[in-house]
Amino acid sequence: MCGIVGYVGPRPAADILLDGLRRLEYRGYDSAGLAIINGTGVQVQKAAGKLSVLTELIGNRKPKGTTGIGHTRWATHGAPNTSNAHPHTDGSGRIALIHNGIIENAGALKTVLLKRGHEFTSETDTEVLAHLVGEYYSGSLEQAVASALHDVDGAYGIAVVSADEPDVVVAARKGSPLLVGVGEGEWFVASDAAAILEHTRSVVYLDDGEMAVLSRDGYRIRNLAEDEVDKPVNQIDWDLATIERDGYEHFMLKEIFEQPESIADTMRGHLLDDEGSSRLHGLNLSDEELCQFERIVITACGTSWHAALIGEYLLEDLARMPTEVEYASEFRYRNPVIDDRTLVIAISQSGETADTLAAIKEAKSRGARTIGLVNVVGSTIAREVDGGLYLRAGPEIGVASTKAFTSQVTALALVALRLARLRGMSLEAGQAFIADLRALPRLVRVVLDRAEELEALADFFTGSTNALYLGRGVNFPVALEGALKMKEISYIHAEGYPAAEMKHGPIALIDENMPVVFIAPRDAVHSKIVSNIEEVKARGGRVIALISDGDDEIAKLADASFTIPMTNSALTPILTSVPLQLFAYYVAVRRECNVDQPRNLAKSVTVE
Ligand code: G6P
Repeated sequence: MCGIVGYVGPRPAADILLDGLRRLEYRGYDSAGLAIINGTGVQVQKAAGKLSVLTELIGNRKPKGTTGIGHTRWATHGAPNTSNAHPHTDGSGRIALIHNGIIENAGALKTVLLKRGHEFTSETDTEVLAHLVGEYYSGSLEQAVASALHDVDGAYGIAVVSADEPDVVVAARKGSPLLVGVGEGEWFVASDAAAILEHTRSVVYLDDGEMAVLSRDGYRIRNLAEDEVDKPVNQIDWDLATIERDGYEHFMLKEIFEQPESIADTMRGHLLDDEGSSRLHGLNLSDEELCQFERIVITACGTSWHAALIGEYLLEDLARMPTEVEYASEFRYRNPVIDDRTLVIAISQSGETADTLAAIKEAKSRGARTIGLVNVVGSTIAREVDGGLYLRAGPEIGVASTKAFTSQVTALALVALRLARLRGMSLEAGQAFIADLRALPRLVRVVLDRAEELEALADFFTGSTNALYLGRGVNFPVALEGALKMKEISYIHAEGYPAAEMKHGPIALIDENMPVVFIAPRDAVHSKIVSNIEEVKARGGRVIALISDGDDEIAKLADASFTIPMTNSALTPILTSVPLQLFAYYVAVRRECNVDQPRNLAKSVTVE
């Protein structure tokens, strides 16, 4: 979603800000802009569209100043055009502000400001906030921002500069991530560490209600009540190379191919071979405490929600633990039945998804213990939960989630294993499950080595505008995820369904133009799914099947098939989801779609 980067230091700010914004492109945006203090005033340059439009507009008129702010905007209030792009200035044109989030009382604030003679040039809530800061300004930007924020309802991550204080950037956060980058004699503010990693790996994460004041002499953190806050400086443990494409045509392809390592990294240090269990100190829950929970609720959005559905299966099947999965956006608004006997698990790649964060807060307010399975270290959800497990999948840049998904499923398997051993799974069964987990990275590599077969299968979708993905049991969520990947990046309308539900509706759609992808490894429901495939074939449908090695029965029935190695049937989702990621990727490339930054999508959805 929107991206923020700000700079104070000795170097020209424009290049640093543009490079930072480039690193944030993956989050999704539709306009971009800069504001630089240039000696006489604030120079604002902004443009609708991709960053390349802005850099073309700037051309060789790059502002010379060494203090500035830059922004990529993902439209919420108002169309994605140049006047709505950030930065926005106040009435005097001497203060410029960038903003992630939504100011909920912008309408009321605007009415008051209009009465006081303010004129607005955009449809945004952000411009209202810029004017409000201007209204309060009387010599101290820090004070003006603090006063304005007292009047504001809603969520924000902001950075503000003023021509009257040319060496100062003021930043503040409430509900939208922000961090300060600590360099040598220079300071940064960013909504995502990727924006500033080129310059420093030392960062201070702001918490809600905190402000940072960056100047040429250093930085201070304070809260809105004016108390100074002492915050630790954290070291980011990944470097620039991790967020480069490394010879791959797209980040998504690179991330798909990283899965043998990312899955191994998720498991690293957590497997207890002798005990046939998992070591999960980060949950901050003793065995006794874990045994007291009566049910689990998993909450998440998007791809993470699909991982949660697989987790439900694992927790019920292995640990016999009653588990429910909730869309975070629904959970928070429907008076959920939650108490201190409920363990609530939040799953999030970014750790910043607004709905998931709100669901966690709701669960905590009702007395539940919360744990997070989160990828981004130091993210808001990771800090909000009572305990958790970092996925350690490494930075995921492609908007469509791939390696984070398989790491989420792996992390859920670790949680399920620990609970299962506490709730009656035998030592031998636990050890066998660990052996299956350990084999996964190698088996994923076997699938990836045959990527060319999937590339050839992409022909199957030529000319199709719709597709159906069908699976059963633990592979039903994989059908949902396979369909989501296809629609996200190729813009082909694809739906996932439990295979047996097909006859209650989707079967009406089947004809020779509607490819049907079956996820059908050899498991307890294999014979049932064979019947479902027959039903599609009997109606002239075209079938691609993901099947286990040696499954001649389905191979003969289907129009095309791809085989996956045998594994524990509870873990097949890891092996079946990888070919579907690749398949969607190759179809999207063939359709010349923007694979890493699909239209309208954002990597991290920080608004409700
Ligand atoms: C966005 C992304 C998806 C992601 C979802 C949840 O929609 O485009 O890829 O699955 O948010 O994000 P999270 O960071 O909470 O996993």
